[in-house]
Amino acid sequence: MGLFGQIYRDYRRYRATGGSWVLTLFFTQGFWASTVYRVNRWAVQRLRFRPLRLLAQVFLSPLNKLTEIVTGICIPASADIGEGMYIGHFGGIFFPSRGRLGRNCSVSQGVTIGQAGTGDKRGAPTIGDRVYIGPHAIVVGKITVGDDAAVCAGAVVTRPVPPRAVVAGNPARVISYDGSFEFICYDGMEGDPARLAALAAGAYPAPTSLGAAPAPALDPTLVNTGGGAP
Ligand SMILES: CC(C)(COP(=O)(O)OP(=O)(O)OC[C@H]1O[C@@H](n2cnc3c(N)ncnc32)[C@H](O)[C@@H]1OP(=O)(O)O)[C@@H](O)C(=O)NCCC(=O)NCCS
Repeated sequence: MGLFGQIYRDYRRYRATGGSWVLTLFFTQGFWASTVYRVNRWAVQRLRFRPLRLLAQVFLSPLNKLTEIVTGICIPASADIGEGMYIGHFGGIFFPSRGRLGRNCSVSQGVTIGQAGTGDKRGAPTIGDRVYIGPHAIVVGKITVGDDAAVCAGAVVTRPVPPRAVVAGNPARVISYDGSFEFICYDGMEGDPARLAALAAGAYPAPTSLGAAPAPALDPTLVNTGGGAP
């Protein structure tokens, strides 16, 4: 998808959650931050003529820093983020320079997604599509977070998360497999084959306590594909 397509998909996430176009364009710092990121990434990746790319960087790097200061949202151009990102509130949000976030994800205030680990185990998360990350959650390390997962407010996630899992606590444990379906809105979601397939997989039995969630239909390694990043 091209630059304008990605920005439009981001914009539509805010509209789909009820924001007017005025509110989205002029009063939503999350949309500003993702737009600057999209332009920055496009310039780094698509401008083949080196002097032109460097010239773009001269303007875009200060703009990126200014956006980070104003919005409290740090998104390096090297981060790989699918279209339809929703950031509802101000600040304290950090994306890693590596790793991946899939399509139609929602990231709340105070979220850190970052690198962790040592040696071969060092790396940043690969996060699937339609993932909800609640306020002040920390998701770090060379892990995968499956499609339709939900990370509860304040969770500290350092281990792989299966698709549809809802994880909470520090260290995070699976509390259910109800997924993020209730928390993520986007255009055409009712007819999205990937979402429908995930829903059709059915609900798994509810856990009896934190950390005791059964996952009968899931890969026991808890590693998934990372889910359709762009
Ligand atoms: C993601 C979230 C919506 C999950 O909700 P849910 O799947 O409906 O979970 P429930 O509310 O049914 O809670 C299930 C269990 O997990 C626990 N739990 C829920 N969220 C938790 C959290 N953030 N940390 C630790 N435990 C949590 C509940 O206490 C409950 O435990 P119990 O069964 O022992 O009573 C929610 O927990 C969350 O983090 N929401 C963020 C809300 C928020 O910050 N809103 C402001 C946005 S600006």
